[in-house]
Amino acid sequence: MWRGRKLSSCGVRFLETLGFGYPSTLAELPLRTSWSGNLQIKPWVFIEHRTMWFRAYRMTFSCLTRIKSYRSSWKRLCSTSQTTVDSNEVKTFLALAHKWWDEQGVFAPLHSMNDLRVPFIRDNLLKTSANHQLGKPLSGMKILDVGCGGGLLTEPLGRLGASVIGIDPVDENIKIAQHHKSFDPGLRKRIEYRACSLEEIVEETAETFDAVVASEVVEHVIDIEAFMQCCYRVLKPSGSLFVTTINKTQLSYALGIVFSEQIAGIVPKGTHTWEKFVSPEKLESILESNGLSVQTVAGMLYNPFSGYWHWSENTSLNYAAHAIRSKVQEHPEPAELFSKRETEELSANASTNPCVCEELKK
Ligand SMILES: C[S@@+](CC[C@H](N)C(=O)[O-])C[C@H]1O[C@@H](n2cnc3c(N)ncnc32)[C@H](O)[C@@H]1O
Repeated sequence: MWRGRKLSSCGVRFLETLGFGYPSTLAELPLRTSWSGNLQIKPWVFIEHRTMWFRAYRMTFSCLTRIKSYRSSWKRLCSTSQTTVDSNEVKTFLALAHKWWDEQGVFAPLHSMNDLRVPFIRDNLLKTSANHQLGKPLSGMKILDVGCGGGLLTEPLGRLGASVIGIDPVDENIKIAQHHKSFDPGLRKRIEYRACSLEEIVEETAETFDAVVASEVVEHVIDIEAFMQCCYRVLKPSGSLFVTTINKTQLSYALGIVFSEQIAGIVPKGTHTWEKFVSPEKLESILESNGLSVQTVAGMLYNPFSGYWHWSENTSLNYAAHAIRSKVQEHPEPAELFSKRETEELSANASTNPCVCEELKK
């Protein structure tokens, strides 16, 4: 009772729930009604109990705040442990960040790869849309360039009229990309760069992009399956995924690592780990089992003497793949499953205390 007012049965239940031995204390109080009904407590007695009530309330509140903070750090921990970003790769690309726009430097093969990959992306996207604006055929399309590095591929896609978001876990890469974009005022509104992982984009958005591009990236990620699940989630139904990568063959070990990195120095030593390479068959099976239907796989060959790439039927070294997200969702989405399970567990734990339930809902 507050200064003679009744303490509601809910209030009594609340005190009981807190386990403060309230009923036994109440037994000694001069009550006007029975324990099961509403309680009336005399004002001079209640002062002591009001203090208790406040303490109890404060304790509950601090417990709930603590539960909430543990819950968010637990969530953060889970998402970090599920990251596809390898810290060693971050170190490697951080050390190379200043070299992105040196066309004769270590990224020269990526510069010249644009001759193949830009038309590959453009032409496959144009197959899916009826109206093209002359000179800006990708106008109206939203593309996510994952692992954009210094923006070597992001920029030409923006010049074709697409709105492109380039993301990369290496902060320095994004700074370089942003700086280079500023030289072309036409790209100012069309390209946005962000230093973040694909997992972070997935947490913020779903079914947003007409296309996701992961060019020369999947051979650097930790968990390729998780990576593809993320690509699936950010794509609109019928959206396109473009991947270029390196096959896992003896030839790719001999030429891609021993020759390119250790003998000719075309690529800096330690850039690639053969174990992370993926065959087109394996990639196709990962894509298909994650709701992405493979349309094209094409071999790409690099001539280190001319510095040019050309298409080939041979996929034993490099290859490009185009897949389309199926319209119907065919598999459970891990993040949703996780949050559903988490909510169920928390509700089960909180179900005994309605006030806790309310607090957790916030
Ligand atoms: C070989 S570069 C390719 C850059 C760009 N796509 C291009 O072709 O010009 C690989 C890029 O992937 C980024 N990367 C590494 N691991 C990644 C991950 N798990 N998710 C997204 N990007 C990643 C690196 O920071 C690096 O910028």
